[in-house]
Amino acid sequence: MKDLIILVGLFGLFATGLALECYVCDNQPDNKDKCVKTTIQCREEQDTCQTTIKWKAPEFWTPRNEKMHHVFKSCSSSMNCTNAQWGLKNKCMRDWYKDWECVECCQGDRCNFYVTLGSANLKFSITLVALSLTLTAVFADRFGAWRLA
Ligand SMILES: *[C@@H]1O[C@H](CO)[C@@H](O)[C@H](O)[C@H]1NC(C)=O
Repeated sequence: MKDLIILVGLFGLFATGLALECYVCDNQPDNKDKCVKTTIQCREEQDTCQTTIKWKAPEFWTPRNEKMHHVFKSCSSSMNCTNAQWGLKNKCMRDWYKDWECVECCQGDRCNFYVTLGSANLKFSITLVALSLTLTAVFADRFGAWRLA
């Protein structure tokens, strides 16, 4: 038992001495390939993994100039990351029809694997439209039937 405690203690000391590991990628269109396969060891003062997600039209020309995701991942400090987040609080809306930019901060090895790409609002809108169509159909049906009776 004592040996186990010492072992756990040693492991703890060893682990805290290790650098944080974060996924790293620069300006990728989605959370695939580079963004989920490339990691780096952070510098000693970097205790946070930072992800920046931008939603806007690409810099290069495309036929319909549709907005797309731009994903950036890197090591950061909790202060730098929180500052970036704070600075973007009015731009992080995740509305599909507007440009937006969000920063996510997390602590822990490879914690910035998942990214909120923010199609939640779009899904919600579609659900709402589908729901109102259904309700309209149901009501129209009821009302029509009632009038005919
Ligand atoms: C915080 O941001 C500054 C300015 O961009 C940068 O020079 C510094 O390296 C960053 N600190 C960390 C720990 O990443």
